[in-house]
Amino acid sequence: MSATTVRFLGHAAVALECDGVTVLIDPFLTGNPQAAASADDIAADAILVTHGHGDHLGDTVAIATRTGASVAAIVELAGELRGALPDGHDLRDPNLGGTITFDWGWARWVPALHTSTSPQGTVSIAAGIVVHIGGRTIYHLGDTCLFSDLALPGRRDPLDLALIPIGGHYTMDRTDAVTAAALVGAPLVVPIHHGTFPPIATDAQAFARDVERDGTARVAVLAPGETLELA
Ligand code: NI
Ligand code: MN
Repeated sequence: MSATTVRFLGHAAVALECDGVTVLIDPFLTGNPQAAASADDIAADAILVTHGHGDHLGDTVAIATRTGASVAAIVELAGELRGALPDGHDLRDPNLGGTITFDWGWARWVPALHTSTSPQGTVSIAAGIVVHIGGRTIYHLGDTCLFSDLALPGRRDPLDLALIPIGGHYTMDRTDAVTAAALVGAPLVVPIHHGTFPPIATDAQAFARDVERDGTARVAVLAPGETLELA
C-alpha cells in the first residue's frame, strides 16, 4: 500500500490521495480566494462534507456531477443534495456517529459545535469527519469551537493527522486551537480555516510554535497547494 497524501486546497478544503483514489473534504474552490485547484478539473472519487455552509459545501454538486464521485453529508443536507445530483448518484446520508464505508476505506461523522444552514436554507447539524484511507486516520474537525468531546474520536481510532481550524470569528481561534490539538491527540496537526478572508486572518506560525512548545504534536503549516505525505 502506498502512502496517503494530503493536499491542502485552501480554507477547509483538502484532497486525500492514495493508490489513485482521491477523497475531497469540503471542496469550496469557486469563490475561494485561496483555492489551489479548479472545480472544473479536480479529480474526485468521493466528496465528504462537514456541514452546509457555502464555504464547505462549495462545489460539491458540480464536482460530483462531472466526476461521478460518491457524496456523503449529514442526512438533511444529503436530502437537499439528492435533488441537485443526477438520478442514481451514489449519495450517503449519515448522522452524527455514523460510519460510511467505501472501497477505499471509511468515514465517520462526529460532533462539532457550530451551525450548518445551507445556502438553500436546509437546516442540519455541523460535524467533523474522521477518515480512514491507506491505513491512515485523519480527523477533519470541520468548523467548531473548542469543546472537550474533541478528545473522543481519537480514543476509538488512533489518529495520524488532525486538520484544525484556527482562524477565529467563525470557529475556535489559534489560542483555543492549541488546547484542541492537545485534546484531539494526533501526532501531526495542519491548521485550516485561516487567512481566507479578513475576519479569519491569524498567525499560523504562532499557533505552530505554541503547539510544539506544549509538545503535544508536530505542526505542518501548509500553503494552499502544498502536500504532506503520511508515510
Ligand atoms: Ni461553517
Ligand atoms: Mn467555515
